[in-house]
Amino acid sequence: MKKITAIAHPNIALIKYWGKRDTALNLPATHSLSITLNQLETRTSVRFTDQLAADRVCLNDSPASAAFSQRVSRCLDTFRSLSGSSKFATVNTVNNFPTAAGLASSASGFAALLTAANASLVRPLDKIQLAILARQASGSAGRSLFDGFVIQHRGERDDGGDSVAEPLYSRDHWPLEVVIAITSENEKKTGSTDGMLHTAATAPYWQSWIDQSATDIQAATSAIRRRDFAALAAVSEASCLAMHAVMQSARPGLLYWNGTTVELIHRIRELRTSGLSVFFTIDAGPQLKAVCLPGDAEAVETDLAAVPGVIRTLRCQLGAGARVVSTVDEQ
Ligand code: PMV
Repeated sequence: MKKITAIAHPNIALIKYWGKRDTALNLPATHSLSITLNQLETRTSVRFTDQLAADRVCLNDSPASAAFSQRVSRCLDTFRSLSGSSKFATVNTVNNFPTAAGLASSASGFAALLTAANASLVRPLDKIQLAILARQASGSAGRSLFDGFVIQHRGERDDGGDSVAEPLYSRDHWPLEVVIAITSENEKKTGSTDGMLHTAATAPYWQSWIDQSATDIQAATSAIRRRDFAALAAVSEASCLAMHAVMQSARPGLLYWNGTTVELIHRIRELRTSGLSVFFTIDAGPQLKAVCLPGDAEAVETDLAAVPGVIRTLRCQLGAGARVVSTVDEQ
């Protein structure tokens, strides 16, 4: 029996994904564009064995919830059917950062799981097939398969065959840095899937959010190609605020921020006015991510760490894609 361990890093979207065009296949309603982070990581080991009657899933060294275990088993079912085997697996997955708090632990988690399970196949799937499975497991997970700047295509096909993540530029193209200001370590109350469905069903601004997103993805791609920081800052903050605006316009409105998140938004804008190259982005949680040119990351981190309500800060460079780190034969 082989125990295969893979590592994947979270990614953060600069152009956001919020909404599904097909819930069953988990097809996104918008394109999205992300950067993969270093330093934060999910490490997942998978070991198929004939000694289990069901998959055994541990998250951060404790038995995982039934809901999470089911999502893991659904992914493993695909590999069981591909390999023609009915063996269940022991899965251990550990995050070195807060889980389910808006730091994309599901993206790195499923990217690591699929990468490890894929390596157990005699004929592993290619990256496109893996990106489709990752997107089915979690809409942002395909993006964590790749390094640097990554686009997740919305796709047009009904079967989702063209709704895949694709690497756009490697991290060497533009080695941006990210400072994460943690403002709460609690798990969020509304998961992203529920939040997206509620927003699509009730938000009056829904269609303008979808329409604007297509323009934003073009502007961001062009800014990254030209390494134009001011242009990337403008379109990324706009996409982030538009995503939060559309969810806040749902009925009842969804609000993932706390007071510190708002203070940090103001602080980032002051820092930019004072000459630092920095912009913010925020996902479905209260943490703020400050994207900076490398020369400014230290000053940004020192400043944000001093904002009241910030529990701690993390600093990341752009990271590598998901990969297998060990394969051990075990009895
Ligand atoms: O992959 P999910 O279902 O957790 O959705 C992620 C949604 C956001 O993080 C809020 C935005 C994004 O594009 O990552």
